[in-house]
Amino acid sequence: MSLRSRESLIFDRSVPGKIGLDLPKLDVPEAKDLRPAKLKRSGFDALPSCTEPEVIRHFTRLSKDNYGVDDGLYPLGSCTMKHNPRLNEKVAALPGFAESHPMAGDSLIQGNLELLYTLQEWLKEVTGLDAVTLQPSAGAAGELTGVLLIRAYHLSHGRKRKVILIPDAAHGTNPATAAMAGYEVVDIASGADGTVSFEDVTDPVSGKVKQGFLSLVAEYKEDIAGLMITNPNTLGIFEYRIKDICDAIHAVGGLVYMDGANMNALVGVARPGDFGVDVMHMNLHKTMSTPHGGGGPGAGPVACRKVLEPFLPRPVVVRETAKVGEGEVPHHTYRWDWDRPHSIGKVHTYFGNFGMLVRALTYCTSHGGDGLRTATLRAIVNANYIRKELEGVYHLPVTSPSMHEVVFNDAIQAKKDVHTLDIAKRLIDYGFHPPTVYFPMVVSGALMIEPTESEGKDELDAFIHAMKEIARETEENPDLLHQAPVTAPLRRLDETTAARKPILRWVKA
Ligand SMILES: Cc1ncc(COP(=O)(O)O)c(C=O)c1O
Repeated sequence: MSLRSRESLIFDRSVPGKIGLDLPKLDVPEAKDLRPAKLKRSGFDALPSCTEPEVIRHFTRLSKDNYGVDDGLYPLGSCTMKHNPRLNEKVAALPGFAESHPMAGDSLIQGNLELLYTLQEWLKEVTGLDAVTLQPSAGAAGELTGVLLIRAYHLSHGRKRKVILIPDAAHGTNPATAAMAGYEVVDIASGADGTVSFEDVTDPVSGKVKQGFLSLVAEYKEDIAGLMITNPNTLGIFEYRIKDICDAIHAVGGLVYMDGANMNALVGVARPGDFGVDVMHMNLHKTMSTPHGGGGPGAGPVACRKVLEPFLPRPVVVRETAKVGEGEVPHHTYRWDWDRPHSIGKVHTYFGNFGMLVRALTYCTSHGGDGLRTATLRAIVNANYIRKELEGVYHLPVTSPSMHEVVFNDAIQAKKDVHTLDIAKRLIDYGFHPPTVYFPMVVSGALMIEPTESEGKDELDAFIHAMKEIARETEENPDLLHQAPVTAPLRRLDETTAARKPILRWVKA
């Protein structure tokens, strides 16, 4: 921790006349300012004036106050903060990819179209499904696309179905998506093992009965458009009855959407298409290592069965193979197919976030099929190593086998009045990004840890050591934890106000 005072805003450092770059002398008449007044910002008239070293130092110092996946383990459960291989960046920066214009004609971008087609083939193989769109720009955008496909499918059969069933442990984007697509969301109770309960569940405290899967299917029957299920679920547990769940939904004419954000626990091991899923998304910025950054740009491709293919967003990249003589290498050409009369329309400008798709295919091809499977197995081993080392030190509320992430809570530490937030903040002092906290909401005081496959044993051991030290401090000096973080540039922030009333622009004092 430095004694230097906090970094001020670049605007506050600005001194009129200071300059960080030399522009060539103006050799044309100065243009009139044609910007309409309503588009001009009030509060300041110019960008900050600073020297080059000031600008470089300002942003370098700020970057050092930050913590990223390049600093160390970033165990943010459900987010899969894994290493972004530099090879991905190198390939994405190749001029043919980075500088190609989205409006270039098909004949000029054959390589890029082949890349998209090839990535679709990889995703079909990984998911066990028949068709893919690469357009959606994130997981939630993929969910909406997938549910709109379900809707289009039912409407094309003249069915006006109203309900989507969603387990109560679902990621928040699932019910939000179903509601956005115009459906009524009906919650399915989870059982004590953390998976979808087939039977109704009685709350031991309130005595309230929450309906389980079977009674909901029996109640809503032909009103059910589909089910959205995250698998592995938000507790990092595989929904082991997924095949029965899919069969029951299909029996009433519904379709199954799988939130595949946690596919990094399944790739190369199990294929959703094989266990009955009809449509799903994958978060390439998780499973395929493309960068997360301030919410984007990401990529949330959707894979589906043949029956949903006509409704996919357009255009769709297609491959045509010219007839060749026997023994000759077939000649493929690629083109955008816009002629999709049943398409739900576009869900992204142009063809999605192309740079992310380049990175994802680089990840797939550089790993190969075996490498992708190995990555999955390592992600699972790493989560289970942490689970084994910390079980008993932290409470494990649900003991079903963990896949790629493990959820503890603060039940042991709460006896000393130390809570999840205190533990998370103290981890910052130990040089780690905190895990996801208070999610999933079905676990009180959840600490959701996802190490990913990127971490070696040394880094895992350092994290485990920090967590054990925090548990020891809880016993010996709980107040220290209430103060944490004590070494960070900023102490405890009012996170609610920061989220609800963010100050996003500088205004002259
Ligand atoms: C289970 C699950 N579903 C959906 C999403 C939403 O994905 P995105 O943030 O890319 O929209 C996430 C995000 O982490 C997730 O963990």
